[in-house]
Amino acid sequence: MAGVTMRPLSRSVLATPVSRMRPTHFTRPQCLNTILDLRCSSISSTPALPYSQTRYSSYSSPDPAPKTPKRKKVTLQTLRNLYKKGEPISMITAYDYPSAHVADTAGVDTVLVGDSLGMVVLGLDNTVEVNMEDMIMHSRSVVRGAKSAFIITDLPMGSYEVSPEQAVKSCIRLVKEGRVHAVKIEGGAELAPTIKQITQAGIPVCGHIGLTPQRQNALGGFCVQGKTCKNALKLLDDALAMQEAGVFMFVLEAMPAEVATLITQKLSVPTIGIGAGNGCSGQVLVQVDMTGNFEPGRFVPKFVKKYADVWGEALRGIQQYHAEVKSRAFPEVEHTYPISKEELAKFEQAVDEMYKKS
Ligand code: KIV
Repeated sequence: MAGVTMRPLSRSVLATPVSRMRPTHFTRPQCLNTILDLRCSSISSTPALPYSQTRYSSYSSPDPAPKTPKRKKVTLQTLRNLYKKGEPISMITAYDYPSAHVADTAGVDTVLVGDSLGMVVLGLDNTVEVNMEDMIMHSRSVVRGAKSAFIITDLPMGSYEVSPEQAVKSCIRLVKEGRVHAVKIEGGAELAPTIKQITQAGIPVCGHIGLTPQRQNALGGFCVQGKTCKNALKLLDDALAMQEAGVFMFVLEAMPAEVATLITQKLSVPTIGIGAGNGCSGQVLVQVDMTGNFEPGRFVPKFVKKYADVWGEALRGIQQYHAEVKSRAFPEVEHTYPISKEELAKFEQAVDEMYKKS
């Protein structure tokens, strides 16, 4: 390094993790420029790390899981064929890339970007505050994660009730910006003109009757519907009117199984039940409820069956990580990047020289 003025880096710079360094933190000493230039020329002959070994591939693993075979894209026609064959249609909610990706990999037919995301992702008390921007952002990430499933998104409260024109505009945004395949709308017969206009715009509509959480104030809370003859007849009337207006499918939420079964039998489009028994054409559950993402003791509706314990597993893992960070057990050698002995020796010597001269 003859002819180069060496100046060691300040302690604070050395203590700053490289990832947090900003150009304003220090002026690069001339000697370091030279060293880095030399290093760059040697780096160019070193093959770059495969993408899967960098921190940017957050899901990289030394033992990659066996790849799930690609499956055909589920379309409206696929759903119609399942219905005709009498094969139950599976639906699950997803709200972001990972929850959509796992649902799609598991093979579900349809993914619903439910406005329940207000409660289970955004931590709100109900779904009424969810808006179009929320639905569009979450829909976009779900679409990136689920490449095969048919994706339906909720029209949030306030995006369709004012007029059919308002509803059509909202649906067009959900399809163009949210990139989903269909929309779901909560309500009854009064929505028939709106549904007609949306379907005439070429957007498939899934109806949602029974317990419609956006109308919880009018319903008197999250209450089971169709428990009286009058109320059950109203549900059937709503379903028939919405079917005539063009819905391709229904979600039937929280009603006696017998009522849902009879409604299903009187319709010529599939019904997807949630808390509506086994006589529907398919089933839907809220993903975080059925995978057990929340701590035991948190309220879940009676119709939820817990298939996994994500909370327990995540808590166990994070507690262990926390303890290992504190004890310096993590990171182990296999989680660090190697440097050859020769390069390390050269680096140590260069640093020594730099400090000796200062
Ligand atoms: O928002 C939602 O998740 C839903 C399901 C409960 C059907 O509408």
